[in-house]
Amino acid sequence: MIIRAIKELQAVHYDLLLLADPDKHLVEAYVKRSVCFEAIFDDTTAGILALLPTRPETLEVVNIAVAESHQGHGIGENLLKFALSYAKNNNYKTVEIGTGSTSFGQLYLYQKCGFRMTSIDRDFFLRHYEEEIVENKLILRDMVRLSMDV
Ligand code: ACO
Ligand code: ACO
Repeated sequence: MIIRAIKELQAVHYDLLLLADPDKHLVEAYVKRSVCFEAIFDDTTAGILALLPTRPETLEVVNIAVAESHQGHGIGENLLKFALSYAKNNNYKTVEIGTGSTSFGQLYLYQKCGFRMTSIDRDFFLRHYEEEIVENKLILRDMVRLSMDV
């Protein structure tokens, strides 16, 4: 597997971005300001990573996704480790990531990679998303924010 920068986002990239974030308008708004990478496995685009500089010295993983057919083989974990190295090499001090309070598997993965919880943005998904999101049989309301110093 290789991870490389994306020069221009194609339909295959948007399909992946929408796996992590169902709101196309929000995705389009933040990818414009982000640096995006793709994971290539067997000549196929298997994963995506979007990194957005937010505050000074802070980089946020605003989108990470792996194609369903390729999930569970370590690509997501490799993309997160890549994000941490990228941040370190580019003199960022902190990497942040946010996910739904109902995203139990994602919360496991982020903590496995060393992220710690910092805060809860209550009702984030009710405020920012028109469509109700249901995950793990629960209505998604709150955003859990995690971070790591690199
Ligand atoms: N549920 C349960 N466990 C999970 C999940 C999950 N959704 N995702 C990862 N894990 C676990 C794996 O079982 C594995 O555990 P192990 O170390 O004990 O073997 C470990 O985390 C590493 O998993 P990977 O194989 O590296 O993860 P994968 O390549 O499947 O990618 C990802 C994880 C990106 C979350 C993928 O499942 C995905 O694309 N999901 C849909 C989109 C999504 O939810 N993206 C994140 C939204 S938040 C954001 O974008 C900022
Ligand atoms: N992991 C995953 N799912 C769980 C767990 C768990 N540990 N516990 C409950 N659930 C889910 C069940 O699958 C079920 O899901 P469903 O509605 O989709 O079918 C739902 O929650 C209700 O489960 P119950 O059968 O009512 O839960 P149970 O009788 O097993 O009791 C409890 C849950 C009290 C957490 C039990 O697992 C336990 O005693 N665990 C060890 C002690 C513990 O962790 N206590 C809580 C510590 S925090 C505190 O005390 C304030």
